[in-house]
Amino acid sequence: MFRLPRNLSMGALSPPERRLHGALRAPLLAAAMLWSATLGGAQQQASAPAPPAADNKPATYVGSETCQMCHEDIFNAFAKNPHHAVETDKKRGFETKACESCHGPGSKHAESVSAADIRNPAKLKPAEADKACLTCHLNQPTHVGRLSGSHAKNQVACVACHSVHKNGPDGMVARKASDINKQCAACHTDVWASFQRPYKHRLPEGAMSCVDCHNPHGTSLPRSIQTARANEPGCYKCHGDKAGPFVFDHAPVRVEGCATCHQPHGSANPRMLTRAQVAQVCLECHSNLPVPKPAANATLGSVPPAIHDLRSPQFQNCTNCHQKVHGSNVSRDLFK
Ligand code: HEC
Ligand code: HEC
Ligand code: HEC
Ligand code: HEC
Ligand code: HEC
Ligand code: HEC
Ligand code: HEC
Ligand code: HEC
Ligand code: HEC
Ligand code: HEC
Repeated sequence: MFRLPRNLSMGALSPPERRLHGALRAPLLAAAMLWSATLGGAQQQASAPAPPAADNKPATYVGSETCQMCHEDIFNAFAKNPHHAVETDKKRGFETKACESCHGPGSKHAESVSAADIRNPAKLKPAEADKACLTCHLNQPTHVGRLSGSHAKNQVACVACHSVHKNGPDGMVARKASDINKQCAACHTDVWASFQRPYKHRLPEGAMSCVDCHNPHGTSLPRSIQTARANEPGCYKCHGDKAGPFVFDHAPVRVEGCATCHQPHGSANPRMLTRAQVAQVCLECHSNLPVPKPAANATLGSVPPAIHDLRSPQFQNCTNCHQKVHGSNVSRDLFK
C-alpha cells in the first residue's frame, strides 16, 4: 500500500525529491510516486527474488501526531522541550514532524512498531548520532571547532552530555556550575580528584565550573581551552591584570602559558604553583645547573647574576624583589 507522507511540503523534501519535482514540474503526488518507484526499481534489480513493492518503499514522514498515538508521554513532555520550536517553525522543514527530525522518517516503524525500523540516536555510533544533531547545530558559535574537538575525535557524542527528552532547568543542558562539574567529573575522575587539593579554584563549592576554562564542544586551541577577547586564553577573562600588554614581558607567561608555573586543576602548593617554593619554580629555567625536571616545553631563561647568593635566605624568595613575575610596565627586571 502506498501511503502519501503526511504534511508533505517543499521544505520537507530531500534534495533528490526536490530535483525530481523541479525537473518534471509534475504535481507533488506524481513526483513522490515516481521517486518511490525509482527507488523500488533499483532495489529490485539489486536483489532477486523481488519482494512486494510495498515492503521496499523507503520510510516516509508521518508527522508527530502519529507518534503521539503510541508515545503519548514523550509527545506531551516534548511540548516543553526547546526542540518544540522545530515543530512550529516553518523555516526548518520539519513543521509538525519534529520527532522525525532526529528519528528519521517513521512510516515503517509506525506500522511495524519494531525498534529496528526507527533511528535511535542513543544506539548509533557517536559520529552517526552527531550527524543528526549537526544538520541543525553546525556553525553555531558555541560549536566552532566541534568536528576537530577532542570529544568528537574520541567518540563522545552530543547525546552523552545532552539528554534530549529531559525537561526542566538541568534537563537538556546542564547550566548550574555544580551540575556541569558533576557531568564532566563522571568521565574525568582524575581531573576531579585534583580539585580536592588544598589550593584550587572553587569548583567543589560550585562557584565555578569546567566550562569557565574549557569549551566542551572544542576550539582551535589544544585542550579545548576557552578563549577570552582577541582569542586569548580564557584565564584572562577573570585574571585580566595578567594579560598585559606589558612593556616588559616575562617570556613564559606569553609564550608558554599559565600552566607552565601553575596547576590550574589544583595543587598542593600555595598559589597553585607547580612547586612548593617559588624559587624552585624560577630556578627550573633560571639556573645553569642541571635541573631535576624541567617543565615539558620550557624555554630556559637567563641566569641570575652573581649577586644572587642562593645559600642566603634573602635570595631564596625571588618574588620579594622580582614582584611582577607576570610582566611589568616599569622594570626590565620585573621588580615592580
Ligand atoms: C503504533 C504504535 C507506535 C507508533 C505510531 C510509533 N511507535 Fe515508536 N515504538 C512503539 C513501540 C511498541 C516501541 C518499542 C519497540 C521495541 O522495544 O521493540 C517503540 C519504540 C520506539 C523508539 C525506540 C527504538 C529503540 O531503538 O529502542 C523510538 C525512537 C520510537 N519508537 C520513535 C517513534 C517515532 C519518532 C514515532 C513517530 C514517527 C513513533 N515511534 C511511532 C510503538 C509506536
Ligand atoms: C532533538 C532530537 C530529538 C527529537 C526532536 C526527538 N527525539 Fe526522541 N530521542 C532522541 C534521542 C537522542 C534519544 C535517545 C535517548 C536520549 O538521549 O534521551 C531519543 C529516544 C526516544 C525514544 C526511546 C525512549 C527511551 O526511553 O529510550 C522514543 C520512544 C522517542 N525518542 C520518541 C520521540 C518522539 C515521539 C518525539 C517527538 C514528540 C521525539 N522522540 C523527538 C532525540 C530526539
Ligand atoms: C531540526 C533541527 C534540529 C535538530 C536535528 C537538532 N536540534 Fe537541537 N535545537 C534546535 C532548535 C531550533 C533549538 C532551540 C534553540 C535554538 O533556536 O537554537 C535547539 C536547541 C538545542 C539545545 C539547547 C537547549 C537549551 O536549553 O538551550 C541543545 C543542547 C540541543 N538542541 C541539542 C541537540 C542534540 C543533542 C541533537 C541531536 C540528538 C539536536 N539538538 C538536534 C534544532 C535542532
Ligand atoms: C562533553 C559534554 C558535551 C558534549 C559532547 C556536547 N555538549 Fe553541548 N553543551 C555541554 C555543556 C556543559 C553546555 C553548557 C555550556 C555552557 O553553559 O557554557 C552545552 C551547551 C550546548 C548548547 C546550548 C548552547 C547555549 O549557549 O545555549 C547546545 C545547542 C549544544 N550544547 C549542542 C551540542 C551538540 C549539537 C553537540 C554534539 C555535536 C554537543 N552539544 C556536544 C556539554 C556537551
Ligand atoms: C562520556 C565521557 C565524557 C564526558 C561526560 C566528558 N568528557 Fe571530556 N573527554 C572524554 C574523552 C574520552 C576525551 C579524550 C581523551 C582524553 O583526553 O582524556 C576527553 C577529552 C577532554 C578534554 C581535552 C583533553 C585534550 O587532551 O585535548 C577536555 C578539556 C575535556 N575532555 C573536558 C571536558 C569537560 C569540560 C566536560 C564536561 C562538560 C567533559 N570533558 C565531559 C570523555 C568525556
Ligand atoms: C581554571 C581553569 C580550568 C578549570 C576550572 C578546569 N580546567 Fe581543565 N585544563 C585547564 C588548562 C589550562 C589545561 C591545560 C594544562 C596543560 O596544558 O598542562 C587543562 C587541561 C585539561 C585536560 C587535559 C589534560 C589533563 O589534565 O588530563 C582535561 C581532560 C581537563 N582539563 C578537564 C577538565 C575538567 C573535567 C574540569 C572540571 C572538573 C576542568 N578541566 C576544569 C584549565 C582548567
Ligand atoms: C571564572 C573566573 C576564573 C577563571 C576563568 C580563572 N580563574 Fe583563577 N581564580 C579565580 C578566582 C575567583 C580566584 C580566587 C581564589 C578562589 O576562588 O578561592 C582565582 C585564583 C587563582 C589563583 C590563585 C591565587 C591565589 O591567591 O592563591 C591562580 C594561580 C589562578 N587563579 C590561575 C588561573 C589560571 C592559570 C587560569 C586559566 C587556566 C584561571 N585562573 C582561570 C577565577 C578564575
Ligand atoms: C613564570 C611562572 C609563572 C607564569 C607563567 C604565570 N604565573 Fe601566576 N604566579 C607565579 C608566581 C611565582 C606567583 C606567586 C607570586 C607571589 O608569591 O608573590 C603567581 C601568582 C599568581 C596569582 C595570584 C597572585 C596574584 O598576583 O594575583 C594569579 C591569580 C596568577 N598567578 C595567575 C596567572 C595567570 C592567569 C597566568 C597566565 C596568564 C600566570 N599566572 C602565569 C608564576 C607564574
Ligand atoms: C619556563 C621558564 C621560566 C620560568 C619558570 C621563569 N622564567 Fe623568568 N624568564 C624566562 C625567560 C625565557 C626570560 C627571558 C630571558 C631573555 O630574554 O633572555 C625570563 C626573564 C626573566 C627576568 C627578566 C630578566 C631578563 O633576563 O630579561 C627576570 C627578572 C625573571 N625572568 C625572573 C623570574 C622569576 C623570579 C621566576 C620565578 C617566579 C621566573 N623568572 C620563572 C623563563 C622563565
Ligand atoms: C634581594 C633582591 C633579589 C632577590 C631576592 C632575587 N633577585 Fe634576581 N635580581 C636582583 C637584582 C638587583 C638584579 C639585577 C642585577 C643587575 O641588573 O645587574 C637581579 C637580576 C636577576 C636576573 C637577571 C636579569 C638580567 O637582566 O639578566 C634574573 C634571571 C634573576 N634576577 C632571577 C632571580 C631568581 C630566580 C631569584 C630567586 C632565586 C632572584 N632573582 C632573587 C635582585 C634580587
